[in-house]
Amino acid sequence: MYAGTNDAQRRRPVTVSTLHKMKQAGEKIASLTAYDYSLAAVVDEAGVDVILVGDSLGMVMQGRETTLPVTMDEIIYHTRCVTAARRYSLVMTDMPFMSYATVEQALHNAARLMKEGGAQMVKLEGTADQAEIVSRLSRAGIPVCAHIGLQPQLVHKLGGYKVQGKDDAAAEAMLNDAKVLEAAGADVMVVECVPAELGKRLAEELTIPVIGIGAGPHCDGQVLVIQDMLGITPGKRPKFSRNFMEGQTSVQAAVRAYVDAVKSVSFPTEEHAF
Ligand code: KIV
Repeated sequence: MYAGTNDAQRRRPVTVSTLHKMKQAGEKIASLTAYDYSLAAVVDEAGVDVILVGDSLGMVMQGRETTLPVTMDEIIYHTRCVTAARRYSLVMTDMPFMSYATVEQALHNAARLMKEGGAQMVKLEGTADQAEIVSRLSRAGIPVCAHIGLQPQLVHKLGGYKVQGKDDAAAEAMLNDAKVLEAAGADVMVVECVPAELGKRLAEELTIPVIGIGAGPHCDGQVLVIQDMLGITPGKRPKFSRNFMEGQTSVQAAVRAYVDAVKSVSFPTEEHAF
């Protein structure tokens, strides 16, 4: 039985320390996005360890082309909806584009996510360049997740949503960024769209849990956008996702199937990796 069990006797609210213990014990961390009360309740009940109120809400909830337009007020609103349903899962919220351009902005906005939204951890995209911001947040008592690899907030600089860290130099640079962010005080790392071998090295070489999306099966956990795994995202399903509604008759069952697949390492497989 794992921490994400439905057994009310055994389930305890997930904390940062739970996530670290799960990594040490080799238990995979299951994470999903949610943006509203009803789905957050389903996700929490199904045994998801971390609910991410991602800025992906700009695309999947608001129909925007990118995550960039999401505002602080919008993500606080969605965080409040999610935390109203939260019983066991840890709720992590994205810091929107340009809400952490300076240390002062980062401190002010992270505090809003926690005080007004009820977030228990904030996530920000970046490289070693964000180390000072991570350090100041961490020293202020704010749990921080650093998001490396494909950073959707950089879509216009990158020229699209592309796999990152493909050659040796880029992979080594990403490993270095990750270690600098960990040393600065990041509690968790999300790594998006990198070759599976790099996902494996990140999980092996970092002490903190590494949660992957399109980063192969060897990460310490997995995260997906809930619309992708329910097969309701308009257009083509991302290669790294699976439609967990297939073979299920309810959303509850699909989310439980996702948790089971992550915990038993039957998702992701080669077909979802780069
Ligand atoms: O915004 C989001 O949903 C994310 C995931 C893709 C990790 O950052």
